[in-house]
Amino acid sequence: LTADHVRVVEVGPRDGLQNEKKSISLKTKIELIERLAKTGVTTIEAGSFVPAKWVPQMASTSEILQHLLRTPPQSGNQISYNYLVPNIKGLENLVKLMEAESAAAGANSDSEATTTTEISLFAAATEAFSKANTNCTIAESIERVRPIVALAKEKDIRVRGYVSVALGCPYEGPDVSPLKVAEITATLLEMGADEVSVADTTGMGTAPRTLELLRTLTAAGIANSDLALHFHDTYGQALVNTIVGLEHGIRIFDSSVGGLGGCPYSKGATGNVATEDLVHTLHSLGMHTGIDLEEMARIGSWISDELGRANDSRAGKATLAR
Ligand code: HMG
Ligand code: MG
Repeated sequence: LTADHVRVVEVGPRDGLQNEKKSISLKTKIELIERLAKTGVTTIEAGSFVPAKWVPQMASTSEILQHLLRTPPQSGNQISYNYLVPNIKGLENLVKLMEAESAAAGANSDSEATTTTEISLFAAATEAFSKANTNCTIAESIERVRPIVALAKEKDIRVRGYVSVALGCPYEGPDVSPLKVAEITATLLEMGADEVSVADTTGMGTAPRTLELLRTLTAAGIANSDLALHFHDTYGQALVNTIVGLEHGIRIFDSSVGGLGGCPYSKGATGNVATEDLVHTLHSLGMHTGIDLEEMARIGSWISDELGRANDSRAGKATLAR
């Protein structure tokens, strides 16, 4: 990555759709992912291997994985598809499917694959959120992560970690300890996570507290290149906090096309910052993303219509109105 290149991680098909009231068909989900893969974005969170009882909207993730393994993107871009796994069972289910697909492809498999499959796992910075989101304590969730990373490494699967509620918790309020966030981030990296996305789940983050958190992470010896930032836009501060992150040297940011989604365990939380808004801001600052903003805006408008919701991207709507 050059200093002026930002990697945008498109989380709409997972973080976005998991919290939309209206479930959409498998066909539409696949169409969304395949259209996103043609915009120039290089990492797409495509689903999660969670029990349907917990997150019914993610029930078709196995079919999505199978489809994406069988159908390389037509754009020729190198794409990483990422799947969230909450526990070892989620990863085992993913690995089983991947191995079955690769056995079926056999000798015909393309040695120069244009897609890679990655996973994300998560821990939270407060006890109350940990209990609500993963039904266990922070310490238990860290122990739950250990075998997931070990199995992923054995299978050569890249691992992203998330630290939720890093800038505010729906149960404990905005004053989450930056030292606790740094401690969990460092632990995930030591265990072997390839990058950690520090998440403002509730959107309570402000510019000063974002800066304080980033300085604490740096003081704990965590390299900027190991970090991503994941802003939900509940209070409209996501882009402000993005600029703080950019100035601090972070070059990976998560976002969701059309600003889809929220979090089922964070009442009132809106979606992630819209990808169109993030890309517009980054380009205005002379940063490169490789993303075609107009096509991203068309996708944001289309998927919002499919979901029967308003398009939450200001830059997306303005781009299409030009
Ligand atoms: P639990 O109920 O304690 O699980 O949930 P359990 O181990 O007791 O198992 C209960 C049943 O589920 C068993 O089946 C298991 O086999 C089955 P039964 O015996 O009753 O028939 N099971 C599974 N089935 C399919 N896939 C699996 C799986 N695991 C167990 N992976 C659990 C614990 C972790 C599973 C649950 O709490 C959970 O799924 N949590 C995840 C919730 C979630 O997806 N939250 C949203 C994603 S995180 C997020 O959005 C934040 C993020 O965007 C960053 C940010 O903004 O903060 C990443
Ligand atoms: Mg999120």
